[in-house]
Amino acid sequence: MPSPELEKFRAAIDAYRAKLADESAAVRDAAGLEDLRNRYLSRKRGFITLLFEELKKFEAAEKPAAGQLLNVLKSEIQDKLAALEDHLRKPAAAGGPGLDLTLPGERLPWGAAHPLRIFQREIETIFLEMGFGIEDGPEIETDFYNFEALNFPPNHPARDNWDTLYINDSLLLRTHTSPVQIRVMEKHKPPIRIIIPGKVYRRETPDPTHAAMFFQVEGLVVDKNITFAHLKGTLEYFLKRLFGDKLKIRFRPSFFPFTEPSAEVDIECLACGQKDPACRVCGGTGWKEILGSGMVDPQVFKNVDIDPEQYSGWAFGMGVERIAMFAYGIPDIRYFYENDLRFNRQFYLK
Ligand code: FA5
Repeated sequence: MPSPELEKFRAAIDAYRAKLADESAAVRDAAGLEDLRNRYLSRKRGFITLLFEELKKFEAAEKPAAGQLLNVLKSEIQDKLAALEDHLRKPAAAGGPGLDLTLPGERLPWGAAHPLRIFQREIETIFLEMGFGIEDGPEIETDFYNFEALNFPPNHPARDNWDTLYINDSLLLRTHTSPVQIRVMEKHKPPIRIIIPGKVYRRETPDPTHAAMFFQVEGLVVDKNITFAHLKGTLEYFLKRLFGDKLKIRFRPSFFPFTEPSAEVDIECLACGQKDPACRVCGGTGWKEILGSGMVDPQVFKNVDIDPEQYSGWAFGMGVERIAMFAYGIPDIRYFYENDLRFNRQFYLK
């Protein structure tokens, strides 16, 4: 007859067996499995270790029977944990909870170019097709390149037209892309035929047509026998490519210290079709200025060691946002910078 101690031990082992069945059914992942393994098999405090310690209390005659009960439970636990580990590794398609590589992936939102970048590329493409190259220059400029080499002497009143953000007495955020004209002409001698796209900065209070940071595309052509007719023909071709053959364009005399003669170019107001005296875009004038231009001033050529007797050239600087606003029918320049995806997404499919 087994002793009451041995019967009690057998009952305790059966209780652990039932407990293991319940607890292993609840395991869902590797962490749960690890927890189960620790609680049952840990050498220091696992149930099996504690039960082995209880063997000491049995008489020598009953020790082998009690030990055998315990060894059976131990190998059942080991088998159960191994089976559970296998199950957790199986993919869902094979009945397991694991990673199912056949499921469709999560859809990530696509990045895309900003509307202004898309438009800038359109501008670049037209000029590249005409044989222009592309250059760029620094956004932090010296007073020399932004003003002096462009024929603005210190304290010249024309500097007031470019509301400048200064970093210190000699460094500033460039107010236009024209300083890159100087940098290019210092390095390369004519023939030169380039455009210079880039960001510029002005101390402006933003309104529907003015931003404190905006994009310009500068153009520069220098060679022998270059005339104003080339400038006019190039800009007319460019604007008609963008807005169609019927576009009305006008060249209006103007002043820039680095070009002589100078002209600002207006296009007909595409917002009101030149019909609304109260138009918010053109102020009822029917025209909208989009760029400044002119023949390179001989003094600028002298500043970069190009002989104005041999060479002539022209330059322009256009506001990318202003033109994009017409091209896309955007009423307020500030929409470009608000990072509102509902606005930006309208241009992705263009
Ligand atoms: C200039 O910046 C001259 N560098 C252009 C130039 C280049 C003339 C080469 C001659 C030869 P202006 O300040 O007018 O010029 O600016 C040129 C264009 O930038 C404007 O026609 C307009 O389209 C755009 N622009 C000017 N200020 C702003 C502003 N605050 N926000 C958005 N666009 C602007």
